[in-house]
Amino acid sequence: MSSSIPSTQHAVVVKEVGGPEVLEYHTDVAIPALKEGQVLVKNTVSGVNFVDTYYRSGFYKSEKPEILGREGAGVIVALGPKTAPYNFAVGDRVLWLGISGYAQYSTPDAAKVMKLPSGVSEEDAGACALPGLTALTIVEESYKVQAGEWVLVHAAAGGVGVLLTQILKRLGAKIIATAGGPEKVALVKSLGADHVIDYRSPKGQDWVAQVKSITGGHGVDVVYDSVAKDTWEGSLESVRRKGTIVWFGNASGPVPPLTLHRIAIKCVKIVRPTLFGYIETREELEYYTAKLFDLLTAKDKLKLFIHKVYPLEDVGQAHIDLTSRKTTGKLLLKP
Ligand SMILES: NC(=O)c1ccc[n+]([C@@H]2O[C@H](COP(=O)([O-])OP(=O)(O)OC[C@H]3O[C@@H](n4cnc5c(N)ncnc54)[C@H](OP(=O)(O)O)[C@@H]3O)[C@@H](O)[C@H]2O)c1
Repeated sequence: MSSSIPSTQHAVVVKEVGGPEVLEYHTDVAIPALKEGQVLVKNTVSGVNFVDTYYRSGFYKSEKPEILGREGAGVIVALGPKTAPYNFAVGDRVLWLGISGYAQYSTPDAAKVMKLPSGVSEEDAGACALPGLTALTIVEESYKVQAGEWVLVHAAAGGVGVLLTQILKRLGAKIIATAGGPEKVALVKSLGADHVIDYRSPKGQDWVAQVKSITGGHGVDVVYDSVAKDTWEGSLESVRRKGTIVWFGNASGPVPPLTLHRIAIKCVKIVRPTLFGYIETREELEYYTAKLFDLLTAKDKLKLFIHKVYPLEDVGQAHIDLTSRKTTGKLLLKP
């Protein structure tokens, strides 16, 4: 490794599962030696995603101690052995997906690193990489949305939600969105959603009835549900006969136990995607990243919303803000 690269770094380590207090900020964490196929990236920004809270709390299992964080954007500062096929050079500006993003340096597999086009800043890439790719994969592979179809999107003001709503609008979908609170509702309306329901307000408690009424009693063609526990039953009621529920997250807790008979009544399809499952091959990653970069460099660019850029040592606060539903758009760390 080059002599300009330090041997230690600032990073956030989780030694045991728990609340935000288990996110320990350290200033002397060793920078890992590069293994075959890896590159060393100095992170300009690292993303905070809801999934990080699942790994922190133990809802999703992972080995501890662990540095959380599944994406970042920055500059390549060293190449490991056998990265030649990807044609990277020191100095390349990149986004990456992988593990251990809550740190100044990360060592992603080169196969999961993409060079940024000149018109895309590292902050912009950080603001939309994981959520944007999630949105692009689930509108194409989990359910292929067609123009004119009714779509219900929950938590539409969140990190994934603001991008998913804009992408669905571009596909010509008719969007019914839910969001908690008047500010979030106004934001989602500004993105072009046709109907936005504040499902936390007294008037929004009957959001299922509102969805039925808006769709003339039929229900929606597809529900994108990442809230799960609190919305699941309503999503099942809101979807039309032969419709699809794309369950892609658990912000309020896991989906309650489901008897298969429940989905038989309306011949409903349930899809449970993960982004990493959809971009496993290099070809898949390149396909969806090219789409994302097109959206970021188009004349009518995708609008990016960064809730806040937190100093790395404030990551605990970022987790508190995210899980207490205070945020809109994306949370970033400045390592
Ligand atoms: N399957 C995949 O590969 C994949 C990839 C990326 C993200 N996801 C999932 O997509 C969802 C969104 O992720 P994100 O990082 O963009 O987060 P986010 O949407 O910015 O934050 C979660 C949002 O969920 C809503 N929510 C409803 N009930 C909640 C509760 N009890 N506690 C906390 N939030 C609640 C809140 O919006 P309101 O205030 O408007 O209700 C909150 O802002 C998560 O479920 C995540 O796991 C899945």
